[in-house]
Amino acid sequence: MDIMEGILTRRSIRRFTGEVISQERLETILRAGFAAPSAHNSRPCHFVVLKDKTTLEKITTFHPYAKMLPQAGCGIVVCGNNEAQKLEGFMVADCAAAIENMLLAANGLGLGSVWCGLHPVAELTEGMKELLNLPENITPVGLVVVGHTDEKKGSWNRYDEEKIHHDKW
Ligand SMILES: Cc1cc2nc3c(=O)[nH]c(=O)nc-3n(C[C@H](O)[C@H](O)[C@H](O)COP(=O)(O)O)c2cc1C
Repeated sequence: MDIMEGILTRRSIRRFTGEVISQERLETILRAGFAAPSAHNSRPCHFVVLKDKTTLEKITTFHPYAKMLPQAGCGIVVCGNNEAQKLEGFMVADCAAAIENMLLAANGLGLGSVWCGLHPVAELTEGMKELLNLPENITPVGLVVVGHTDEKKGSWNRYDEEKIHHDKW
Protein backbone atom coordinates (compact mmCIF):
# COMPACT_ATOMS: atom_id res chain seq x y z
CA MET A 1 0.00 0.00 0.00
CA ASP A 2 1.25 3.47 -0.88
CA ILE A 3 2.11 5.47 2.26
CA MET A 4 -0.42 8.26 1.63
CA GLU A 5 -3.13 5.72 0.86
CA GLY A 6 -2.29 4.02 4.18
CA ILE A 7 -2.53 7.30 6.09
CA LEU A 8 -5.70 8.54 4.40
CA THR A 9 -7.65 5.26 4.63
CA ARG A 10 -6.89 4.61 8.33
CA ARG A 11 -10.11 4.76 10.33
CA SER A 12 -11.10 3.69 13.83
CA ILE A 13 -12.55 0.18 13.57
CA ARG A 14 -14.79 -0.97 16.40
CA ARG A 15 -16.37 -4.14 14.96
CA PHE A 16 -14.31 -7.29 14.64
CA THR A 17 -14.87 -10.85 13.38
CA GLY A 18 -13.38 -12.48 16.49
CA GLU A 19 -10.48 -14.12 14.63
CA VAL A 20 -7.28 -13.30 16.52
CA ILE A 21 -4.40 -11.81 14.50
CA SER A 22 -1.37 -13.96 13.71
CA GLN A 23 1.91 -13.69 15.62
CA GLU A 24 3.66 -12.56 12.41
CA ARG A 25 1.28 -9.62 11.96
CA LEU A 26 1.49 -8.74 15.63
CA GLU A 27 5.27 -8.55 15.34
CA THR A 28 5.00 -6.29 12.27
CA ILE A 29 2.74 -3.94 14.24
CA LEU A 30 5.14 -3.91 17.20
CA ARG A 31 8.06 -3.25 14.83
CA ALA A 32 6.17 -0.19 13.56
CA GLY A 33 5.71 0.98 17.17
CA PHE A 34 9.42 0.67 17.90
CA ALA A 35 10.24 2.59 14.69
CA ALA A 36 8.52 5.81 15.87
CA PRO A 37 10.51 8.97 16.56
CA SER A 38 11.39 9.76 20.20
CA ALA A 39 12.48 12.99 21.90
CA HIS A 40 16.23 12.85 22.64
CA ASN A 41 15.93 9.30 21.22
CA SER A 42 15.10 8.24 24.80
CA ARG A 43 12.82 5.41 23.63
CA PRO A 44 10.59 5.18 26.73
CA CYS A 45 7.88 2.99 25.14
CA HIS A 46 7.03 -0.49 26.34
CA PHE A 47 4.25 -2.61 24.86
CA VAL A 48 2.07 -4.97 26.87
CA VAL A 49 0.41 -7.41 24.47
CA LEU A 50 -2.95 -8.65 25.71
CA LYS A 51 -4.72 -11.73 24.36
CA ASP A 52 -6.05 -13.45 27.46
CA LYS A 53 -9.88 -13.35 27.28
CA THR A 54 -10.33 -12.74 31.01
CA THR A 55 -7.93 -9.78 30.91
CA LEU A 56 -9.66 -8.31 27.84
CA GLU A 57 -13.04 -8.63 29.57
CA LYS A 58 -11.73 -7.04 32.77
CA ILE A 59 -10.61 -3.94 30.87
CA THR A 60 -14.18 -3.35 29.67
CA THR A 61 -15.31 -3.12 33.32
CA PHE A 62 -13.36 0.11 33.88
CA HIS A 63 -12.90 1.44 30.32
CA PRO A 64 -16.32 2.52 28.97
CA TYR A 65 -14.99 3.14 25.45
CA ALA A 66 -13.07 -0.11 24.93
CA LYS A 67 -16.04 -2.48 24.78
CA MET A 68 -14.87 -3.80 21.39
CA LEU A 69 -11.66 -5.23 22.90
CA PRO A 70 -12.79 -8.84 23.62
CA GLN A 71 -14.23 -9.21 20.12
CA ALA A 72 -11.01 -7.88 18.56
CA GLY A 73 -9.05 -10.49 20.52
CA CYS A 74 -5.88 -8.45 20.90
CA GLY A 75 -4.84 -5.24 22.61
CA ILE A 76 -1.48 -3.52 22.96
CA VAL A 77 -1.07 -1.23 25.96
CA VAL A 78 1.51 1.39 25.09
CA CYS A 79 3.33 2.44 28.24
CA GLY A 80 5.94 5.12 28.87
CA ASN A 81 8.86 4.78 31.26
CA ASN A 82 8.94 8.06 33.22
CA GLU A 83 12.57 7.46 34.15
CA ALA A 84 13.70 7.01 30.54
CA GLN A 85 11.82 10.15 29.39
CA LYS A 86 11.66 12.56 32.35
CA LEU A 87 9.55 15.33 30.77
CA GLU A 88 6.03 13.91 30.87
CA GLY A 89 4.94 15.75 27.73
CA PHE A 90 7.74 14.17 25.72
CA MET A 91 7.00 10.71 27.16
CA VAL A 92 3.35 11.04 26.12
CA ALA A 93 4.31 12.39 22.69
CA ASP A 94 6.69 9.45 22.15
CA CYS A 95 3.94 6.96 23.04
CA ALA A 96 1.44 8.76 20.79
CA ALA A 97 3.88 8.53 17.86
CA ALA A 98 4.29 4.79 18.49
CA ILE A 99 0.52 4.33 18.67
CA GLU A 100 -0.11 6.10 15.36
CA ASN A 101 2.65 4.06 13.70
CA MET A 102 0.95 0.88 14.91
CA LEU A 103 -2.49 1.98 13.70
CA LEU A 104 -1.00 2.67 10.28
CA ALA A 105 0.83 -0.66 10.21
CA ALA A 106 -2.41 -2.47 11.07
CA ASN A 107 -4.17 -0.69 8.21
CA GLY A 108 -1.35 -1.60 5.84
CA LEU A 109 -1.79 -5.26 6.84
CA GLY A 110 -5.52 -5.09 6.09
CA LEU A 111 -6.43 -5.24 9.80
CA GLY A 112 -8.73 -2.97 11.79
CA SER A 113 -7.63 -1.02 14.84
CA VAL A 114 -8.69 1.71 17.21
CA TRP A 115 -6.77 3.89 19.69
CA CYS A 116 -8.42 3.80 23.11
CA GLY A 117 -7.23 6.59 25.37
CA LEU A 118 -5.81 5.98 28.86
CA HIS A 119 -3.54 8.84 30.02
CA PRO A 120 -4.45 11.39 31.45
CA VAL A 121 -7.72 9.86 32.75
CA ALA A 122 -6.85 8.68 36.29
CA GLU A 123 -9.53 5.93 36.50
CA LEU A 124 -8.22 4.40 33.28
CA THR A 125 -4.50 4.59 34.06
CA GLU A 126 -5.06 3.36 37.63
CA GLY A 127 -7.29 0.52 36.42
CA MET A 128 -4.65 -0.56 33.92
CA LYS A 129 -1.77 -0.24 36.41
CA GLU A 130 -3.55 -2.47 38.88
CA LEU A 131 -4.70 -5.06 36.34
CA LEU A 132 -1.31 -5.39 34.62
CA ASN A 133 0.81 -4.96 37.74
CA LEU A 134 2.73 -2.07 36.19
CA PRO A 135 5.73 -0.69 38.12
CA GLU A 136 5.39 2.79 39.67
CA ASN A 137 7.55 4.49 36.99
CA ILE A 138 5.46 3.12 34.10
CA THR A 139 2.48 5.10 32.73
CA PRO A 140 -0.03 3.40 30.44
CA VAL A 141 -0.65 6.05 27.78
CA GLY A 142 -2.96 4.34 25.31
CA LEU A 143 -4.45 1.04 24.23
CA VAL A 144 -4.30 -0.12 20.62
CA VAL A 145 -7.14 -2.54 19.91
CA VAL A 146 -6.42 -4.64 16.82
CA GLY A 147 -8.17 -7.45 14.99
CA HIS A 148 -9.84 -8.62 11.81
CA THR A 149 -12.29 -5.96 10.78
CA ASP A 150 -16.01 -6.58 10.48
CA GLU A 151 -16.95 -3.15 9.14
CA LYS A 152 -16.13 -1.05 6.11
CA LYS A 153 -15.32 2.61 6.53
CA GLY A 154 -14.41 5.04 3.81
CA SER A 155 -11.79 7.75 4.05
CA TRP A 156 -12.89 11.35 4.18
CA ASN A 157 -11.19 14.53 3.20
CA ARG A 158 -10.19 16.45 6.33
CA TYR A 159 -7.89 18.93 4.62
CA ASP A 160 -8.86 22.27 6.17
CA GLU A 161 -7.52 25.41 4.56
CA GLU A 162 -8.77 27.49 7.53
CA LYS A 163 -6.38 25.72 9.88
CA ILE A 164 -3.30 26.42 7.78
CA HIS A 165 -1.37 29.55 8.68
CA HIS A 166 1.42 30.97 6.58
CA ASP A 167 4.48 32.43 8.25
CA LYS A 168 2.39 33.86 11.15
CA TRP A 169 -1.08 33.12 12.68
C1 LIG B 1 -6.13 10.19 22.39
C2 LIG B 1 -7.26 9.43 21.72
C3 LIG B 1 -8.13 8.69 22.51
C4 LIG B 1 -9.15 7.95 21.92
N1 LIG B 1 -9.93 7.16 22.72
C5 LIG B 1 -10.86 6.37 22.15
C6 LIG B 1 -11.58 5.42 22.95
O1 LIG B 1 -11.37 5.31 24.16
N2 LIG B 1 -12.48 4.60 22.34
C7 LIG B 1 -12.73 4.68 20.98
O2 LIG B 1 -13.57 3.92 20.49
N3 LIG B 1 -12.06 5.57 20.19
C8 LIG B 1 -11.13 6.40 20.74
N4 LIG B 1 -10.38 7.23 19.94
C9 LIG B 1 -10.61 7.27 18.49
C10 LIG B 1 -11.32 8.55 18.05
O3 LIG B 1 -12.65 8.51 18.50
C11 LIG B 1 -11.23 8.64 16.51
O4 LIG B 1 -9.88 8.70 16.12
C12 LIG B 1 -11.96 9.85 15.95
O5 LIG B 1 -13.36 9.75 16.18
C13 LIG B 1 -11.74 10.03 14.44
O6 LIG B 1 -12.15 8.89 13.71
P1 LIG B 1 -11.12 8.02 12.83
O7 LIG B 1 -10.07 7.47 13.75
O8 LIG B 1 -11.96 6.93 12.22
O9 LIG B 1 -10.50 8.91 11.82
C14 LIG B 1 -9.34 7.99 20.51
C15 LIG B 1 -8.46 8.73 19.72
C16 LIG B 1 -7.41 9.42 20.31
C17 LIG B 1 -6.43 10.18 19.43
